[in-house]
Amino acid sequence: MLPKSEDPIKIITIERHILEEQLQFPDATGVLTQLLYDIALAGKVISSRTSRAGLAEILGRTEEVNIQGEVVQKLDRFADLTIYRLNDHTGRLAVMASEENEHPMPISNSPGKYVLLYDPLDGSSNIDYNIPIGTIFSIYRRRTESGPGTLEDCLQPGRNLVAAGYILYGSSTMLVYTTGQGVHGFTLDPSVGEFLLSHPNIRIPEPPVYFSVNLGYRMFWSEGVKRYTDHLQGLDGGMKALSLRYVGSLVADFHRNLLAGGVFYYPADFKDPKKPQGKLRLAYEAAPLAFIAEQANGYASDGVRNILDITPTSLHQRTPLFIGTRSLVEKAEAFIREYDSVRV
Ligand code: AHG
Ligand code: MN
Ligand code: MN
Repeated sequence: MLPKSEDPIKIITIERHILEEQLQFPDATGVLTQLLYDIALAGKVISSRTSRAGLAEILGRTEEVNIQGEVVQKLDRFADLTIYRLNDHTGRLAVMASEENEHPMPISNSPGKYVLLYDPLDGSSNIDYNIPIGTIFSIYRRRTESGPGTLEDCLQPGRNLVAAGYILYGSSTMLVYTTGQGVHGFTLDPSVGEFLLSHPNIRIPEPPVYFSVNLGYRMFWSEGVKRYTDHLQGLDGGMKALSLRYVGSLVADFHRNLLAGGVFYYPADFKDPKKPQGKLRLAYEAAPLAFIAEQANGYASDGVRNILDITPTSLHQRTPLFIGTRSLVEKAEAFIREYDSVRV
């Protein structure tokens, strides 16, 4: 028996954690466990490339422009291909869909029962400045019976999510996920190449500390969002001012508010008539993070309704997003109800 002082710390790898979590479900086949493990593996590969981006000639732009009309960064393309190639032959998926590809990518050979939607690299504009970036993923059960998956399998409300998570390539690489049994965070130990449980049962703490928004777009916001922002800054005397933190990587800004308490929002803005619903995409940015937020006692809204209740009508559909501490998100809805006659 080891003396107490020498007990090895309880090392829980992500594989062990997912397996133990799935054992609660008698009908669990282990496929979801393997799928989550495949995503963790993709995270390790992308992390190793990201940490050497400056050296491995992986910085900078390709000559391509993606469906979003954005120039594709080399790391975007690398992350996109890594996730696709690690999942296109496993027999676990019926279809995949990525921010970087206009159409869904059906799996023809032995299609499986799950659907994977992903933003391979979130925060691309920050790649060349060594600011944290991330990967976001959503997992659904397929809706179609058999054969290669279809767009119908991809256009599901967040309420149907089986699992969701993100990988944050920051000062350390973290994987945070939920399967509806709470939110759990794992930190990559590069020396052993394993994600180890570092943040079990994450709950958004009270009171909130931060608000995260790009104040540079204030002139394009509705009256309700402007007054909400004044409220968060204590300008209307309604609350103690919060601190502003915004790095322009959704995953990093969301993660900070998840752990410290606060709200992130990217409202509808009227600067770009092509994007009246704001910049963020429902299927592979807002919905997966909304599932995580709700599982951590938070909330996510488009300013009017719960993000998880919105059924996408197109793959790259954008949505305004208010996400984090429940009371702060509900306050945003209240200001929009009171001051914005035009419904979001
Ligand atoms: P992506 O790099 O996947 O296109 O996402 C970028 C998004 C999101 O990460 C971030 O919150 C937002 O863009 C920042 O947009 P602004 O630069 O307009 O504030
Ligand atoms: Mn993104
Ligand atoms: Mn992206």
